[in-house]
Amino acid sequence: MNKVKVENLLINFKTLEKFKRFREYGNQELSMLEDLQNNLIENNSESPFYGVYIGENLIARMSLYRIKEKYDNYFDPPQDYLALWKLEVLPDYQGKGYGKLMVDYAKSFNLPIKTSPRINSQGFWEKMGFQKAQYDLERDLGENPLIWLPQGVQEKAALPNHDDE
Ligand SMILES: CC(C)(COP(=O)(O)OP(=O)(O)OC[C@H]1O[C@@H](n2cnc3c(N)ncnc32)[C@H](O)[C@@H]1OP(=O)(O)O)[C@@H](O)C(=O)NCCC(=O)NCCS
Repeated sequence: MNKVKVENLLINFKTLEKFKRFREYGNQELSMLEDLQNNLIENNSESPFYGVYIGENLIARMSLYRIKEKYDNYFDPPQDYLALWKLEVLPDYQGKGYGKLMVDYAKSFNLPIKTSPRINSQGFWEKMGFQKAQYDLERDLGENPLIWLPQGVQEKAALPNHDDE
């Protein structure tokens, strides 16, 4: 793990080819590929993806996107936060600290983080210091978001229960 670091991934055909090895390869990747083919985005544009290379192999990746304060419904005081999704470490490299390396990188921005965990990964997120957000039907619908709070930030108080009014 010594010289390994998390880096921002550029959108180019090489990166998109590497993404095919990840389980969560879907619409986001296909639309980036289409945009690249149609020249709607430039080769080597910055992407919301971050990853870890070992030699020529991309072995871990995640998407990180900064959400603006005016759309924040999770934190107190309201502020910009990071949405993290598609965190995935390739099977041969799991359990070696790369997942933690990625999450620590996301935390290093010192902004609150929101993610929606995949099944069976709850234990990992708990270890990383994430907690369940209080469920808010209108905001969360089918999601079960987890949040991470940097120092000085709190979770936004739940809306009053209408039955109590
Ligand atoms: C979940 C995942 C991202 C974790 O990454 P990883 O590199 O395997 O995890 P790490 O080696 O960094 O583990 C860090 C700590 O979390 C623990 N941990 C890892 N996966 C865990 C799990 N599923 N349940 C409970 N604890 C877990 C490790 O034991 C380790 O603990 P330690 O510090 O006490 O030794 C990775 O296994 C993965 O990609 N899984 C498949 C896809 C997935 O489920 N993604 C979830 C994100 S939506």
